[in-house]
Amino acid sequence: MLQQKTAQFMAAVLGMFIIATAQVHAQDAAKAPKLANVTILATGGTIAGSGASSTTTVGYTAATVGVQQLIKAVPELSKVANVNGEQVFQIASESMTNDHWLTLAKRVNTLLAQNTVDGIVITHGTDTLEETAYFLNLVVKSRKPVVLVGAMRPSTALSADGPINLYNAVLLAADPSAAGKGVLVAMGDQIHGARDVSKTNTSTPDAFKTTELGMLGYIQGGKPFFYRVSTRKHTADAEFDVSNLTSLPQVDIVYGYANMNTVALDAFVAAGAKGIIHAGTGDGSVAAKVKPGLIAARKGGTIIVRASRVGQGILARNGEANDDELDFVVSDTLSPQKARILLMLALTKTNNTKELQRMFYNY
Ligand code: DGL
Repeated sequence: MLQQKTAQFMAAVLGMFIIATAQVHAQDAAKAPKLANVTILATGGTIAGSGASSTTTVGYTAATVGVQQLIKAVPELSKVANVNGEQVFQIASESMTNDHWLTLAKRVNTLLAQNTVDGIVITHGTDTLEETAYFLNLVVKSRKPVVLVGAMRPSTALSADGPINLYNAVLLAADPSAAGKGVLVAMGDQIHGARDVSKTNTSTPDAFKTTELGMLGYIQGGKPFFYRVSTRKHTADAEFDVSNLTSLPQVDIVYGYANMNTVALDAFVAAGAKGIIHAGTGDGSVAAKVKPGLIAARKGGTIIVRASRVGQGILARNGEANDDELDFVVSDTLSPQKARILLMLALTKTNNTKELQRMFYNY
């Protein structure tokens, strides 16, 4: 009799324990933060690259691994976001074209308009990653996070940086603190703004830097930490709209150097360039032999933007040339390759040089 009573008591206690545990799990599940929905748009590059051996860190093939394989290689992604992947294209980024940019921008805007998408990560080759990031910084019509990420070593290499870079990019795109900060670049545990980041080394893992104006923050221990924001207009506050565009105005870059000539400039103008970025020496200086060619191009209707090959610093208006008199525009602190992007988009709105100069001081 006693044994029966004891057994009944133990069964009752066990039952209460099971119910209590189930309730705790249910409460925990209810309290667990809902994971953000992040779409990964894959475009190719080294992050999707493969080499002949684990020690091949140069001379590998970029753009060989598909987006689903990239996601599968980082199972930890599922702990920081609900992730799905799309292969938008599969190219080495030196071959990125205006058509690729328009396709990518339209897909990003379509996805971000859906309330089921909280953020986007774009995997990309590092050669032109800074350019795609800046282009999107000017045309994305949302404050939701858009994060570009690449790798300096192929997925098959020892200490490949792609997986951790992708993990960081996804957790950044899933984090509310990344919203409204413009298009971001996540490389090497660092957060950079699209406007001022550049690839500063041909091959080392720390290649991406925002040298003088400073990166925006870090990613550490699975969390983003922001310390600054860009002061320039971007994304939802930008005035450029590519939704109805099927092409972009042709803008080319003329590189400045000692003893340069006007062969390239003349060829670009003859080919119908709507704008020329003159990547001059120093503070955007124009060689005496080249100035007449720029003046003639301007008189023929081509927009001339004075930029510098130097890489840092403000390009002073009316400094090395009388821009007011020659009706030139200056690039402010934009690199020649980013000045080209802004001018292409600006020319979809106006060819008034006062308006164009305003845009270079706003973006
Ligand atoms: N071909 C280069 C590119 O796709 C490889 C560099 C890289 O992705 O890191 O940009």
